[in-house]
Amino acid sequence: MIIAIDGPAASGKGTLGKRLAHHYGYRHLDTGVIYRAVAYAMMAMGADLNDEVLAVAAALELDPEKFGNPILKTQQVGEGASVVSAFPKVREVLVNFQRQFAADPPGAVLDGRDIGTVICPDADVKIFVVADPRVRARRRTLEARARGEVADEEAVLADILKRDERDKNRAVAPLRPAPDAHTLDNSNLDIEAGVRAAIAIVEQARAKR
Ligand code: DC
Repeated sequence: MIIAIDGPAASGKGTLGKRLAHHYGYRHLDTGVIYRAVAYAMMAMGADLNDEVLAVAAALELDPEKFGNPILKTQQVGEGASVVSAFPKVREVLVNFQRQFAADPPGAVLDGRDIGTVICPDADVKIFVVADPRVRARRRTLEARARGEVADEEAVLADILKRDERDKNRAVAPLRPAPDAHTLDNSNLDIEAGVRAAIAIVEQARAKR
């Protein structure tokens, strides 16, 4: 079974993806990390993030072994990822890796922006996670502070809104729910309640198969 989870920045889709994968014994891929790794490779070279040729080269040389680098989680790298992910050729290079991951047994949960629409349009279950931007900013600020980083909630909110705009309005694979996606609004749910709601959606879909 393939479970696709999409949603905007800081919606909690990553945590949800990880928890669902654990619940069902499936593998989990946070696809944002792929774009973050491309951006970081460029940033580490001092390259201009708007250079499409270099971004494609970085995507072709992607090393999944480096996906665990904590620096990929920072806001700066996330912002860079939003820029490089708008290049159609960068996305094209990364499609096969994601589809292969999804296809390998025993099943997979992928989270991102275009999993249900582009990467796995035939996914068995699609969940589109949303939350109020203020709530997302609050959660992301608390997470950053827990990691010992300095975070200003208003700046985090501004970053989230800017990223939402860019991710929704890009020409290729824009952030939007697939027509057959189930929307899960977790603005008023804690992690446990969000996980329970997602499992209920998956179980409902399984019962219908
Ligand atoms: O989910 P995230 O914050 O780690 O994603 C970082 C950026 O990567 C996001 O702003 C847009 C891009 N992204 C994408 O274009 N497609 C995906 N499937 C996942 C992320």
